[in-house]
Amino acid sequence: MPQVVEGYTWLTGRTPLPQLWTLGYHQSRWGYESAEDIREVAGHYRKLRIPCDTIHFDIDYMDGYRVFTWNEKDFGAPGVVIREIADSGFKSVCIIDPGVKLDPGYAVYDEGMEQDYFAKTPEGQTYVNAVWPGDAVYPDFGNPEVRSWWAKKQSYLTGLGVRGTWNDMNEPASFRGELPADVVFTDEDKKSSHAAMHNVYGHLMAKATYEGLKQADGKRPFVITRACYAGTQKYSTVWTGDNQSLWSHLQMAVPQLCNLGLSGFAFAGTDVGGFGADCTPELLCRWVQVGAFSPLFRNHSSKGSTRQEPWQFDETTIAVNRKFIELRYRLLPYFYDLFHECEKTGLPIMRPLVLHYEDDPETFNLNGEFLVGEKLLVAPVLEQGAVKKLVYLPEGTWYDFETGRPYEGKQYYMVDAPLDVCPMFVKEGGMIPTWELCQYVGEKPYDTLKMLVFPGNGTYLHYRDNGADFAYRDGAYHLYEFSGVPGQKEVSVKLLHEGYTPYREIVFETRGF
Ligand code: GLC
Repeated sequence: MPQVVEGYTWLTGRTPLPQLWTLGYHQSRWGYESAEDIREVAGHYRKLRIPCDTIHFDIDYMDGYRVFTWNEKDFGAPGVVIREIADSGFKSVCIIDPGVKLDPGYAVYDEGMEQDYFAKTPEGQTYVNAVWPGDAVYPDFGNPEVRSWWAKKQSYLTGLGVRGTWNDMNEPASFRGELPADVVFTDEDKKSSHAAMHNVYGHLMAKATYEGLKQADGKRPFVITRACYAGTQKYSTVWTGDNQSLWSHLQMAVPQLCNLGLSGFAFAGTDVGGFGADCTPELLCRWVQVGAFSPLFRNHSSKGSTRQEPWQFDETTIAVNRKFIELRYRLLPYFYDLFHECEKTGLPIMRPLVLHYEDDPETFNLNGEFLVGEKLLVAPVLEQGAVKKLVYLPEGTWYDFETGRPYEGKQYYMVDAPLDVCPMFVKEGGMIPTWELCQYVGEKPYDTLKMLVFPGNGTYLHYRDNGADFAYRDGAYHLYEFSGVPGQKEVSVKLLHEGYTPYREIVFETRGF
């Protein structure tokens, strides 16, 4: 199976190494209606000492849902709140939908009309449907000129200090019935139809957005898209759309993300806590345990539902959220190493057990646990009220991540999992790199590496670079190889590549010896 994934991603493209901060925790909500709401959310994270890197601006930051505009009435002068929260380490991501408001006098609409950039009816009229702004027209992303126009528009956002773009409604969504099959779109240099271009509409929008962000700030672009196609992973992360705050949707999250990973989409996530309906304290506590190991880790919810930031509930919910978000931040070097590996091999971050144990039939339908990389097994509680988890451990010896207690594999165990526990196991020979806890990426330099070493024979590659731009492609990175000596508390370290700055200190902690 790993070879199949390698081959498939060789063909369709691999998830490129992201900026480091994108692997931190993100907070979003459709319902942040003013700069004051954004400040309040950012302030709470820092006050409660719950790490958080990113705040997402949903459609209300725009002026009347016109893309590439700013709602000054509620969000103040363009970009001011973005710069304010950036002072305490927050990165801002703004939503951009494809539907352009039909509104003569609005620059994006006027430019698109003048250049003939919107999809047409077979009779040659601009095709009109409706989305958030009411009557709207659809950029023809199959036309390379339209893509470069859209790419240049990203600089409106980056100029305000925005660090990433969230592409939504790009199936494309339409409130007055589906787009008819014969709506005229372009396929590069020839005329085409909605029927032919539907599946790549989101893909091409994400591609234009990626190119635009790359031109605008030279960093590794951070794009999130709802619609995608085989290969979109080269340009964008994905989330699984509008789930609900239901236990069954939490249960679905694990196979959804594992399947996306096998399909090339290594950088994916679900709306933690659920988008629609009202989340409960217990559900949020369990969802954050899955979120902490999901490649994209974002709490998001819908207007009209219960607010879902950890402090909207009780002290226990705050403590459990903090515990798992902190764990995510300590494990950032592990996630980053997995992304480095993914760019080379296409192997995903979050993996179904069957990927590495394809001869073990017990793993074939195992949807309640997963691997992060090859050697960390996570078995979250996914059922309401449960405080124990039935865990299957495949062949070999496994060690409890926290206590180091050994378990012989190829059997099931019933383990304790009260609300603040997510069972985690490390395979023999496993090594897990960790960094000092920070409230956000960039708070302090990550100059000390702490390796957690478990018994057994194994090697581990650890990668380090500036976490931001493309200099690593010209060799600006360090690559370390750690090798454990079987049966002994001994690890040797080799520097395989020297192109960045070395650690000030590397420390080891043994577990399970
Ligand atoms: C769509 C998106 C959701 C977003 C909402 C408003 O439903 O899937 O994430 O919050 O639109 O923009």
